[in-house]
Amino acid sequence: MRLAIVGYGKMGHMIAAAAALRGHDVVCTVDPFAKDASIVTSEPLSMATAVAGSGADAVIEFSHPSSVRGNIDALIPTGLPLVVGTTGWHDSLPEVSETVKARGSALFYSSNFSVGVNLFYRIVSDAARLLADFENYDVAVFESHHSNKADSPSGTGIEIARRILENVPRKTKIVSDAFTRKPDPSELHLASLRVGSTPGTHSVFFDSAADTIELTHVARNREGFALGAVRAAEWLIGAGPGIFTMNDIFDSL
Ligand SMILES: NC(=O)c1ccc[n+]([C@@H]2O[C@H](COP(=O)([O-])OP(=O)(O)OC[C@H]3O[C@@H](n4cnc5c(N)ncnc54)[C@H](O)[C@@H]3O)[C@@H](O)[C@H]2O)c1
Repeated sequence: MRLAIVGYGKMGHMIAAAAALRGHDVVCTVDPFAKDASIVTSEPLSMATAVAGSGADAVIEFSHPSSVRGNIDALIPTGLPLVVGTTGWHDSLPEVSETVKARGSALFYSSNFSVGVNLFYRIVSDAARLLADFENYDVAVFESHHSNKADSPSGTGIEIARRILENVPRKTKIVSDAFTRKPDPSELHLASLRVGSTPGTHSVFFDSAADTIELTHVARNREGFALGAVRAAEWLIGAGPGIFTMNDIFDSL
């Protein structure tokens, strides 16, 4: 596979390394600041023109929450299968889905490409479903990441919280701000910590007066994200048009 990478920061470099290990060619890297990128621009249309002209079979986007939407809008018309790892844009998923459908293109997105985290999502959904009948258990989510992270709460934390709402009917609303009042029992607290260089930790607490059940996923490094993104691009090339997530890969296994 010939691959274009948009956003050549920490993840972009790790994706290039993971792609090389899997025998792929990185034919284009785009970044407004990275000195070793093959195209230096922050302008979405110039970026998309460079990507389209590079001969890439697929594009992987890991840039910044403030630029990802413009990049997606510019890349969809290229018709290239597009994998998006940047977080902080999922509120605009309905509009992006419309454009993807209208153009007949293929987009794969995930707030977390690690296989372990995606297994964790399933474990959390199952645990939440099980605990839903036990009203004496409250539930909360906690995430911590390195202090360079641009968005908060993490996309992974939001997905975990979303799965809890889906499975625990007594929780109806995610609250990620600090509580300056007593929480309503229907509110699900999603709390964040930013510190040092930790790659990402997510915990779910099911808490009763008698005990706590704690589920935790700890990312040890970022290699799992990079490998997952490359595997998603490999999978997407054969998938045809549509919008896909890690669930589609898991379901196809
Ligand atoms: N989905 C996942 O599995 C996963 C895993 C890790 C990180 N992330 C997300 O990926 C994103 C990037 O993370 P990172 O650690 O590589 O950050 P980073 O800061 O190391 O790199 C981001 C790069 O994007 C570049 N950039 C900024 N504006 C751009 C634009 N308009 N076009 C192209 N590039 C642009 C920056 O110059 C920088 O080099 C973040 O949103 C992060 O939360 C997702």
